[in-house]
Amino acid sequence: MKPLLVLTIILHGIMLHGQTVFPTPTQATVNDGQLVLQRKVSVCTADTAAPGLDILRTKVLGSIPIKWTTRASKAEICWQTDSTMPSEGYRIQINRKQIVVSARDKGGFTYAAQTLRQLAESRDKTLIFGCADIQDAPRMQWRGFMLDSGRQFQQVATIKKYIDMASMLKMNYFHWHLTEGLGWRIEIKRYPRLAQVGGQVGHGAEQQGFYTQQEIREIVEYAARRNVTVVPEIDMPGHAEAAISAYPELGCFGQPIDIPQTGFTHNIFCSGKDEVINFLKNVLDEVCTLFPSPYIHLGGDEAPKGNWEKCAYCQGRIASYGLKDCHDLQLWFSAQMAGHLKKKGRKAIFWGDVVYSDGYPLPDNAVIQWWNYRGHKDLALRNAFKQHCPVICSPNYYTYLNFPVTPWRGYAEDRTFGLAEAYLHNPADKISYDGDNSAMGISCALWTDYGVTEAMIDERLFPRILALAELMWHQGQRTDFATFYRNIQQREEWFIRQGYNFGPALKQEADL
Ligand code: ACM
Ligand code: ZN
Repeated sequence: MKPLLVLTIILHGIMLHGQTVFPTPTQATVNDGQLVLQRKVSVCTADTAAPGLDILRTKVLGSIPIKWTTRASKAEICWQTDSTMPSEGYRIQINRKQIVVSARDKGGFTYAAQTLRQLAESRDKTLIFGCADIQDAPRMQWRGFMLDSGRQFQQVATIKKYIDMASMLKMNYFHWHLTEGLGWRIEIKRYPRLAQVGGQVGHGAEQQGFYTQQEIREIVEYAARRNVTVVPEIDMPGHAEAAISAYPELGCFGQPIDIPQTGFTHNIFCSGKDEVINFLKNVLDEVCTLFPSPYIHLGGDEAPKGNWEKCAYCQGRIASYGLKDCHDLQLWFSAQMAGHLKKKGRKAIFWGDVVYSDGYPLPDNAVIQWWNYRGHKDLALRNAFKQHCPVICSPNYYTYLNFPVTPWRGYAEDRTFGLAEAYLHNPADKISYDGDNSAMGISCALWTDYGVTEAMIDERLFPRILALAELMWHQGQRTDFATFYRNIQQREEWFIRQGYNFGPALKQEADL
């Protein structure tokens, strides 16, 4: 290792033969020389279906055909298992003759392939790799991207595009927000009206539709091949207007309801009727058959209690269980649902609203997702830690990438932020992710309020999502902002070639 080069790497991120890698690897040494691949590439592996090889074939080698071999000495690329590597970590050693990739698990091989994808330089039907030695592993175990398919419906191909993106940025969870007041998007065979009626309640051209169970299975499998676990969210008891319009008996008063085209209402699932509790458990049974994820997200955010205050069933439940109030009733309801998931060996994720105040205890499979920094600062985070609940951090300042860089429709100035805020001032970055009282990781989100249609998603996400990926993945010293931004500008063309357009980055030039 040349000390001067190591110094360069620390100061400027990983600058490998003029290339940067996003997110930044933990350690890299740059060596002289390069490996040139052309015509046919020999790849050594014990298993041609091993993880990461699909990405190597389609995203790195492209049109260059592969000759498979099991003899490492003859191969230009070696895919080898090394049980001493950290979980999801990998090593890539490139010399003038060979690339050796070592990892111990699916994540490690997947992310090695994703890094090779960024290192490869394509020139006249050849692929060139600068000689280097890279060792890399994630800072956090939970690295998430959430997409709101409730308020807007996206095509299956679009869902896959953003799963690809998550894997490319070394994120391992795709949190799929599948139910909203404006749309129920998941086919439930036992209750077909949920999707058939609840999938059509929005008024916009891109607000109609749902995913069939066959499509969902295909998406879950597609994601798994890219080391992405799909975590479905069935939001309850609030954000339920689409479901209640399909089955009015799910509401407190059994009446047809209006669908809000923005925001949310008091029309939430009734917590007093046993039939509603059973209905939702039956929904979760089907959800669990579709999604093998250890985590199922049960929502729990923004559930106004006006109807529960007036509902004889809900008030009856409060009285018979000796609950304090309607918040306590939400805790009781959440505990029933989490308990149901616990019996199936799953964990239940809840938005932080459920821990704003104490009450009926949640079972020990509950996970809290801290989100409302603008409204309550770190209240949910503190209370979750107090209750020894695992925490996922997604404070709306600054992980909600639907907040634009400059005001747009319902997003006034106070709900905007730029790349510098996401990178330098993120409350999610001030938390410990290692050791006692640490959080599981960070999620970022793309909500689709106010009509964020498919064509707008890229420009909301890029380039700011690169800052979020950096916080989630990179351990150790971080590059200064000006250099980070310059590296992004150098990489922009590459991301565009991968199919992701860029929107604005900075709120103002002064950020630099
Ligand atoms: C949320 O942003 N309502 C979780
Ligand atoms: Zn009720």
